[in-house]
Amino acid sequence: VIREVGIVGGGQLGRMLTEAAHPLGFQVTVLEKTPNSPATYAGARQLVGDLNDPDKLKELAAQSDVLTWEIEHINAEALEDLAYSGYNIQPSPSTLSAIKDKYQQKKDLEAAGLPVVESVAFDTFSDDSSPEERIKHTILKLGGNIIFKTRTGGYDGRGNFRYQGDVAALEASLGSDWDNLYAEKIIPFDKELSILAARDLHGNTVIYHATETVQKNNICHTTITPASIEPRMALQAKEIGHETMLLLKGAGVFAIEMFATDNQVIINEIAPRVHNSGHYTIEGAVTSQFEQHIRAITGLPLGSTALRAPAVAMINILGTRDEPLNREGLDKLMAYPDTHPHFYGKDSRPARKLGHITVLAATRQSALDRATAARNLLTV
Ligand SMILES: Nc1ncnc2c1ncn2[C@@H]1O[C@H](COP(=O)(O)OP(=O)(O)OP(=O)(O)O)[C@@H](O)[C@H]1O
Ligand SMILES: [Mg+2]
Repeated sequence: VIREVGIVGGGQLGRMLTEAAHPLGFQVTVLEKTPNSPATYAGARQLVGDLNDPDKLKELAAQSDVLTWEIEHINAEALEDLAYSGYNIQPSPSTLSAIKDKYQQKKDLEAAGLPVVESVAFDTFSDDSSPEERIKHTILKLGGNIIFKTRTGGYDGRGNFRYQGDVAALEASLGSDWDNLYAEKIIPFDKELSILAARDLHGNTVIYHATETVQKNNICHTTITPASIEPRMALQAKEIGHETMLLLKGAGVFAIEMFATDNQVIINEIAPRVHNSGHYTIEGAVTSQFEQHIRAITGLPLGSTALRAPAVAMINILGTRDEPLNREGLDKLMAYPDTHPHFYGKDSRPARKLGHITVLAATRQSALDRATAARNLLTV
């Protein structure tokens, strides 16, 4: 029987996983570098250590009946070794390895026949090829509208650079280790979508409604579910979700970020974990993504993905300054109907994700309007 759940990472996702695991009777320990991580405020125990340290990962695995993660920037190889030695790790660390390198991830999707944004990598160039040669080659293949990304380690747009002809600016932003860079064609999308999917230990899969996401400065700003897209596009997104799940091994929740153009849906990238675009599910769906992940990895049956209201909006609360968290305006916000703030227990820093607000309503517009108004009431 499973009692002890280990989570690599103790940030807000680890915290919300902990909040879902406890009512089901599981104990949670997180591995995180800085003591008093956000997850500990929800009652998780913490092992203090680096997420890449093989010894710490082994220590956590040894005390857990199942080990999972909340972030992909961790030592996937060490986890593969631990899985090979018989530790129960979900989802499969081999899938984490395949996804961690964003370029490899895209090539795997392409090889499986899935529609994915076109990309070019540079590790086949000889070391002395100049940045100008590499860029010329990229533009020949992808056209002039390109975005450079670091293959590993990027998040919230850190690691992305929209190239506008300035090589020095590109290298100043992403560094000059060209082997760790790749380029993508910029997709002129109408909308961005996210599909959350979960698989249990027996291979059953569920897919949530498509969520429309809006990013500002590369960071998820708001989500609205269900996405307002034509039924055929929603069907396409769902089918892509099912087919992508065939490539992802093991149990757990996955998120597939997509671009919707006027006539097709293209995969942007996959997150092998619970995701910001799924925060709405805590109050907005019958089964939250966090509970779903805990169900999946502990051998419980999956829960319903149905919405609890016709429309659910989520807005992130991003920090604007370097200060301890201030929640001025919370009293006014709490007077709104079906409006649910979440704070992660972090101090305010510019652009840091401090929390989010979820609103359930009768229409997309009213959910979005109320979420925006609620956010504007708060000073953090
Ligand atoms: N090829 C592209 N074409 C158009 N827009 C893009 C492209 N790549 C990225 N973007 C925009 O930048 C955002 C962030 O890019 P990406 O998904 O690579 O993020 P990330 O840094 O991994 O962040 P996160 O982990 O938060 O999703 C995307 O959601 C999209 O709005
Ligand atoms: Mg992304």
